[in-house]
Amino acid sequence: MIRFLFNDELVCLDDCSPDTTVLEYLRTIAEQRGTKEGCASGDCGACTVVIAEAIDGQLRYCNVNSCITFLGGLHGKQLLTVEHLQQSGALHPVQQAMVDLHGSQCGFCTPGFIMSMFALYKNTHSPSRAEVERGLAGNLCRCTGYRPIIDAALSLAGKSGQDQFSDSEQATLERLTTLVSETPTGQLTYRGRHFFVPTSSDELASLLLTYPDAKLVAGGTDLALSVTQQLQQPNVLIYTGRVAELLTITDSDAALTIGAGVSYSEAEPLLHQHFPAFAELLDRLGSLQVRNQGTLGGNVANASPIGDTPPVLLALNAVLHVRTGDQRQSIGIDDFFLGYRHTALPESGFIERIEIPKQPDQQLSVFKVSKRLDDDISAVCAALALVIEEGHVRAARLGFGGMAATPARALKAEQALIGQPFTEAGIVAAQQALAQDFQPIDDVRATGTYRLMVAQNLLLRAVYEQGADKEQAMEVVQYA
Ligand SMILES: Cc1cc2nc3c(=O)[nH]c(=O)nc-3n(C[C@H](O)[C@H](O)[C@H](O)COP(=O)(O)OP(=O)(O)OC[C@H]3O[C@@H](n4cnc5c(N)ncnc54)[C@H](O)[C@@H]3O)c2cc1C
Ligand code: FES
Ligand code: FES
Repeated sequence: MIRFLFNDELVCLDDCSPDTTVLEYLRTIAEQRGTKEGCASGDCGACTVVIAEAIDGQLRYCNVNSCITFLGGLHGKQLLTVEHLQQSGALHPVQQAMVDLHGSQCGFCTPGFIMSMFALYKNTHSPSRAEVERGLAGNLCRCTGYRPIIDAALSLAGKSGQDQFSDSEQATLERLTTLVSETPTGQLTYRGRHFFVPTSSDELASLLLTYPDAKLVAGGTDLALSVTQQLQQPNVLIYTGRVAELLTITDSDAALTIGAGVSYSEAEPLLHQHFPAFAELLDRLGSLQVRNQGTLGGNVANASPIGDTPPVLLALNAVLHVRTGDQRQSIGIDDFFLGYRHTALPESGFIERIEIPKQPDQQLSVFKVSKRLDDDISAVCAALALVIEEGHVRAARLGFGGMAATPARALKAEQALIGQPFTEAGIVAAQQALAQDFQPIDDVRATGTYRLMVAQNLLLRAVYEQGADKEQAMEVVQYA
């Protein structure tokens, strides 16, 4: 059985199909159709709902795309939709702001915008314009235009975030805590198919031994598309989002170690502190809805050649801590990607955590080149971890995405860089060596020629950024 709060109503379910999405539940089972379906692939935000979770004695409100969130993942949480915002017939402050500032025309996108704005209202009391844009970048509107919508969100600045949910926060926290302590694990079973919600690494390891063909679900932002777009029907799904060991972050002098089930949004503050260029990349990964669910573990295990974090993890020489049954092993990221979407993860194995070594003398530059700034997949992603002494490159690890069938290091370019001055002239041989490292293909995002030229130009951009010549560095991007 899974148990969650639907606003303040306790819902207990046990015989739903394991791949039911929250959107499907809302529209067809709960018959609450305020939440809309646009793309069913996490891109448009029409289906945005808010999930509240008890973390460290507080409720954390996250806006997520319900079309790519599996229902079983709600176990122990509170689900809030646009139907829950009005109280005694009065509009919630975010709804009132949208009315006052004329933020809606056809209204199809409006429930999604309202829920993203509601999460912003609860989490950021006086959002700046940049924070508003970041908070709403995962919601698309085809007719109103964004100015009035952004104005509506900005008009909430200075409001306290108080509403009926603040009034009942303590009671909700207590109900969620009781719910989780009464029923720690969750399960949906329907016609021999299962969704499991384990709470420990031991349980997860044992479930994977019992069901070696099971699919792990972390944020589900990749996996759910195989259900909503490719209409696959996995027999067994196992959710990692409540497995304590996968949700921890350890920050030591030697390394930052992030549990494979930690969402990007949770990992971001510490990444910002230790690897700011990495954290800046996360701002460009999907939308806030995607980052609230998606994980480093899922990005790595998915092994997409255009995933954004593997190039950075390659540059930073990360180590994956993997468990299979009772066996634990460490796999260096260099040895993990074996072929197109093929990894060194053993059968019934899973990633517990990702260790990112700290190397104080290393300088990290990360570049994502895509057609749009927000919520777009990379044509090329490059991460350069360099040690530069007296103007010369002493050590180099270059990770690239979009250049080969897997995320990959540019080994020849690295060799060509080492010992050279890190200047426009000093990187020419490395730029040429990139053509030996990679023969990228043409696809819908870019041609191979373009990809190679961009990758070569990104080395130049790193030189300019090193010289703190941001203007020149930006010009390189325009040429790229
Ligand atoms: C709208 C949208 C925009 C996106 N934009 C980007 C983008 O800009 N850049 C980018 O890189 N990606 C992007 N993605 C893809 C996706 O969000 C990321 O790859 C994300 O990191 C996947 O993490 P997840 O936790 O959601 O993975 P899931 O979907 O839960 O899992 C992905 C795969 O990893 C496996 N897995 C999960 N956890 C583990 C584990 N602990 N051990 C072993 N295997 C595991 C799953 O079984 C599955 O095969 C986008 C997706 C959407 C829907
Ligand atoms: S329907 Fe488009 S993001 Fe869910
Ligand atoms: S109001 Fe019509 S799509 Fe936004």
